[in-house]
Amino acid sequence: MNPLSVNPKVVPFNDASRLLVEEDVRRQVAFAAAQAVDYSGPLLVLSEQRLRDNARRFIRAMPRVRPHFAVKANPDAAILKVFFEEGAEFEIASSAELDALLKLGVRARDVFYSNPIKSPTALKYAAAKGVQWYSLDSVDELQKIAAIVPQAKLYIRIEVSNEGSSWPLAGKFGASPAVVDTIIAAAKELQVDLCGVTFHVGSQCCNTENWVEGIKSAKAIFEKLTGNGFTPQLLNLGGGYPIQFTGTEPTIEEISLAISAELASLPESIQVMAEPGRYFVGSAGCLVSQVVGTANRDQARWLYLDTGYYGGLMELVQGFPLKLVSERTGAAELWALAGPTCDSIDVLGSHYLPNNMQAEDLVFFPNLGAYSSSCACDFNGFPAPKLVVVD
Ligand SMILES: Cc1ncc(COP(=O)(O)O)c(C=O)c1O
Repeated sequence: MNPLSVNPKVVPFNDASRLLVEEDVRRQVAFAAAQAVDYSGPLLVLSEQRLRDNARRFIRAMPRVRPHFAVKANPDAAILKVFFEEGAEFEIASSAELDALLKLGVRARDVFYSNPIKSPTALKYAAAKGVQWYSLDSVDELQKIAAIVPQAKLYIRIEVSNEGSSWPLAGKFGASPAVVDTIIAAAKELQVDLCGVTFHVGSQCCNTENWVEGIKSAKAIFEKLTGNGFTPQLLNLGGGYPIQFTGTEPTIEEISLAISAELASLPESIQVMAEPGRYFVGSAGCLVSQVVGTANRDQARWLYLDTGYYGGLMELVQGFPLKLVSERTGAAELWALAGPTCDSIDVLGSHYLPNNMQAEDLVFFPNLGAYSSSCACDFNGFPAPKLVVVD
C-alpha cells in the first residue's frame, strides 16, 4: 500500500496528511542517500517500486480511465519499461519520444500524439510508423494533418481553466469555443475523422473543478460533433494530477470522486483516457546534489550547488514547494541558493538549510522524478544528473 493513500473520509485531512508527506520525504532521502555513498556528480535516484505503486494506484483509483504516461515527464527507457509492464500506454510530443516507445515494443497504434503543433516532418514520420491518433487546436494544424495523414483519428485540444495549477499551460494551447466551431466546419469539408476531445488543466493542478468543467465542455462538443455527422469516440482528460508536496493537494482518489458523476453519464462507446506525467514519476525520484562552495554576498549567505537551473532544478525556481534536505543538523538558516554555471539565471531563490553547511555536503530534493533530468542539460560543462532506477 502506498504510504500516501489516505482515505479522506476516515483520516481527518490536516496533520495526518502532512505527517505522511514528511515520512515519505524521509523515506525518499534515505533511499537516495544509499545510492550516493560514493558521490561523484548529481544523481536522480528513482525507486522502481514507487513507479509501480504510482501507476497501480492511478489505475485503481480511475477504473474507467486508461492512463497514457506523458513521456516528456521522464523519457528514461527503464522508466518507460516499468510503466509498459504495469499496463500503461503512452502519450508523445516528438519523434524521439515515439522512437523510445517503439524500441520498447509499444505498438504505434496505441500511441497518442498530443502535441497540438507538429512539424510536417514529424507527422510524416509518425504516420509512416503507424501512429493513428493526433491532437490539434487550430484549423491550420487540421489542414496540415489532413494533407499528410488523411486517415488520422483526430482529437481537439480545448481551452480549460488552469487556475490552481502550479505550472499553467493555458494560453499557448487550447481552442476557444469559436475556434472549435471553425475546426468542426473545416473537418467536415476535409472529410477527416474528428472524433475526440482533450484538455490540460495545468501541471500539478490542485483544483478538481478544472477537470469537471473540462468534461462538461467536452460533452457539449460531442453533441456538436454528432450534429455534424461525426461519431465521438474519445475523451482524453490530459495530465495535471498532482503529487503530495505539502499534504494539502487533492489525492488521485479525490479527483476520481470529483469527476465520477460527469464520467458516469458518458456513453460506454466513448473511450476515456488520461495522460499523467508528474503523478506517475514525480514522487518516485529524489535528486541528489552537492555543495561546491559558500560565500557572503549582499548581506546574504550564498550556497552554490553542483547542479542548478540547467541541471534539473528548474521547478525550484518556479516556486514549487520542494523540500530541501541535508544530513547536517545545524539550526535552519535562509540561504541564497545558486547553481554552478556562470549564468545569472542560475539562481534558485532563498531556501532554509542548516547554518553549518559546507562544500561537499549533499543536498537532497525529494519528489523531483518528473521534469528534472528530462529538462536538464550540461551547460558550461556541468553534467546533468545521472539517472538511476533502483529496485
Ligand atoms: C499534452 C500533455 N499531456 C500530458 C502532460 C503531462 O502533464 P502532467 O505531468 O502535469 O501530468 C503534458 C505536460 O506538459 C502535456 O503537455
